[in-house]
Amino acid sequence: MCGIVAYNGDENAIPIIISGLKRLEYRGYDSAGIAYINNKLNVIKKAGKVKELKKNTPDNLFSNIGIGHTRWATHGSPSNENAHPHLSMDKKLAIIHNGIIENYNVIKEGLQNRGYIFKSETDTEVLINLIEDVKKNEKISLFKAVQLALSQIVGAYAIAIINLEDPDKLVVAKKGSPLLIGVGENEFFVASDPSPFIEYTKDVIYLNDNEIAEISRNNLEIRTISNELKTTYIEKLTLELSQIEKGNFETFMLKEIYEQPKAILETLRGRISPDFNFVKIRGLNENTEAFKATHKITIIACGTSWHAGLVGEYLIEGIAKIPVEVEYASEFLYRDPLISNKDIVIAISQSGETADTLSAVNLAKKKGALVYGICNVVGSSIARETGVGTYTHAGPEIGVASTKSFTSQVTVLILIALSIAKLKKTISESEFTSITKELFSISNKIQLTLDNTSKQTQQLAKLYQDSKNFLYLGRGISFPVALEGALKLKEISYIHAEGYPAAEMKHGPIALIDKDMPTIIIATNKSKYEKILANAQEIKARSGKLIAIVTDDDINMNKIADHIIKVPATEHFLSPLITTIPLQLLSYHIAKLRGCDVDQPRNLAKAVTVE
Ligand code: AGP
Repeated sequence: MCGIVAYNGDENAIPIIISGLKRLEYRGYDSAGIAYINNKLNVIKKAGKVKELKKNTPDNLFSNIGIGHTRWATHGSPSNENAHPHLSMDKKLAIIHNGIIENYNVIKEGLQNRGYIFKSETDTEVLINLIEDVKKNEKISLFKAVQLALSQIVGAYAIAIINLEDPDKLVVAKKGSPLLIGVGENEFFVASDPSPFIEYTKDVIYLNDNEIAEISRNNLEIRTISNELKTTYIEKLTLELSQIEKGNFETFMLKEIYEQPKAILETLRGRISPDFNFVKIRGLNENTEAFKATHKITIIACGTSWHAGLVGEYLIEGIAKIPVEVEYASEFLYRDPLISNKDIVIAISQSGETADTLSAVNLAKKKGALVYGICNVVGSSIARETGVGTYTHAGPEIGVASTKSFTSQVTVLILIALSIAKLKKTISESEFTSITKELFSISNKIQLTLDNTSKQTQQLAKLYQDSKNFLYLGRGISFPVALEGALKLKEISYIHAEGYPAAEMKHGPIALIDKDMPTIIIATNKSKYEKILANAQEIKARSGKLIAIVTDDDINMNKIADHIIKVPATEHFLSPLITTIPLQLLSYHIAKLRGCDVDQPRNLAKAVTVE
């Protein structure tokens, strides 16, 4: 995924674009660049983060129009040549692009046969030269050339183009990748999400797939690739600038870990009746017949969202008694899944832009399933494609490692399980109200867990920061939490870690256990407690270092484990909301001690918008 920013208006585009790129850096940070026009078409671009670009951009530059890009490399290494913006061969057009052109090779060959020479390895440079080629041969405007060129493109794109021959116009287009237009007074902003322009305007136009906009300083026209004129709908953003800034926290990730009590309250807001006897989820309540009748629910997602889906399997099967299958979206996509109009498919995605999940959504829709989205970003592609679903309302998550989005996704899945259980009467009224009441106040226990485990996880981080491997174990609903804990450590500290069902350890991974191998075991599950104790003893019998997460009232594990992390006891089905917290903090502190960039870990991006 990459970040794009563009500006056309009365102010100086250059500082607006560069600070906008800083806000989008979570989308990719391999290289950054800017193009602007002041009599000439100028490009400045550098491998590295936006701060490298800023260092190479003189403060006295001025232009009313410009485009900027921060890159997560897909085609071609993160280098100056492959950085965006890319120029057409005649150096009159400059383009930035978020997405992937799947048929760029065949187009490139055609252009090369017509004498085009390429400087980079990117698909984007192919696109801008195709547009130049069409524009010249057909003797048409840039807007029309973009329409014609995009009709030949297979893939996803959010693009912005400036033209030296028509320096007052910006042409933008979208398909499969997000592109928003901020509407100001005599100025327009274009970006991948609202953060680059939220401080200037809350009026926004969400460009739809296959739409192209021509933007001058005080006017905008939107047409489809087939030239149908579109009415512009201006919507109001609810996002606040403070939500996308770090505040008093040293990193976004730490801020978002500590925002979880508030985020869960936002997720629950208006969705639990005061008497705890009813949960209200509009998307589900509009499809009760489908949820009552379905023979199976399939959950599709990637990464942390897939882990939330695994928790959802335990929740929906345990509370609502409906069979659930959880699939990696990328696997679901290519195995011709047995899905029909009798199925419900739930797609979970924080960003709502993950290409694997978006493509799997479209496949499930094509097969006739009811596709239900659980997203955090309002108006995101998956939210729009599914059309029915539930927003997590966790607030913007800037840190690349998902934290509050995981616990808010689990919270929505708990509400869905309870809602279906109410419909199908699969649990007693007393069980229902007991879980719902505990859920309503779970934020207090999350806050308690944050307060009580912060220091301890910092101390443990000092002890284990140089470990080469970690093992995370859990049983039942704690197994997906073990997977999530391992992923957190991997992606921000670069230490290898694996999550396993606790009982599975003796079927192979136990061979890894020695005095240098720390294992984290989640032992809060009363129903399997004796078995977890046995697993803990198996580890100690092989001199493994053992960190156990237990409930406050635990009296046995401290005789076995090297370290005990105590967390408040809660309803079995709600325990992932608590046990995840110390795992997030431990990963965070280890990564910080190792000098890693926790908000922008190497090689990663906040959402992967390429399959
Ligand atoms: C998790 O910390 C990672 N950021 C990554 O695994 C992420 O969960 C995955 O890419 C899915 O993203 P999504 O929820 O935005 O679809």
